[in-house]
Amino acid sequence: MRIGTLGNGMMAEALATHWVSAGHDVMIGGRSADRAGAVAGRVGAVSGSLAEAAAYGEIVLLAVPAEVAVAVAREVPAGRTLVDCTNALDHRDFTLAQDSVAEAVSAAAPGVRVVKAFNLAADAVWRNPPAGLGVPLCGDEGVEQVAELVEALGCTPVLAGGLRHAKLLEATAALAIGIWVGGGDVRAMFPPLTEAFGTVRPGQS
Ligand SMILES: NC(=O)c1ccc[n+]([C@@H]2O[C@H](COP(=O)([O-])OP(=O)(O)OC[C@H]3O[C@@H](n4cnc5c(N)ncnc54)[C@H](OP(=O)(O)O)[C@@H]3O)[C@@H](O)[C@H]2O)c1
Repeated sequence: MRIGTLGNGMMAEALATHWVSAGHDVMIGGRSADRAGAVAGRVGAVSGSLAEAAAYGEIVLLAVPAEVAVAVAREVPAGRTLVDCTNALDHRDFTLAQDSVAEAVSAAAPGVRVVKAFNLAADAVWRNPPAGLGVPLCGDEGVEQVAELVEALGCTPVLAGGLRHAKLLEATAALAIGIWVGGGDVRAMFPPLTEAFGTVRPGQS
């Protein structure tokens, strides 16, 4: 697939590295040609402006600060699938500075399929993810395409509901980051999957 990144920061580089290795064609998009070009050189991609990367990708990764996510997403033409990894974290107290970035992004980009993904773990995790790591995906359309990008990392897509569930994923990230920073172990809160839990997904009864 052709993948464009909106942003040339830590998340774009960590994820794009795997996508290039998996054989996808990637354009790193940034507001600075020098910074986008440097990242593209490291990962084996091409580089361009934000608008060029948005036009290039069948899938477009939105990897900019949440406060500019809506403005940057307006660059994305209809028909693309947009992967939103942003976290609107208020670092003062690990709450959310904005409610449901993904839905706001979707409203600003008509005809674009928005999928929330990759926001639960740090870029250091994405650089070298544990095999099989579950990656929750929230979206109404385009989820199968993004699942392919999750598998390119050796990770496991976890269908976590439609776009209206994305705000829960954003809140989960804020909660998890607050616990991590406080020295807690988020994984310790969840029991291993057993048959008793079944495989019911959000939206199913
Ligand atoms: N890093 C993590 O561990 C992590 C984990 C999960 C989710 N996230 C989320 O992923 C997103 C990206 O994080 P990151 O760590 O990759 O950030 P980063 O390394 O700081 O990179 C941010 C990117 O956004 C660009 N940018 C900043 N302001 C912009 C603007 N006004 N217009 C256009 N582009 C702008 C920057 O461009 P320049 O290079 O030109 O400054 C840079 O390419 C954030 O929303 C973050 O919350 C991060």
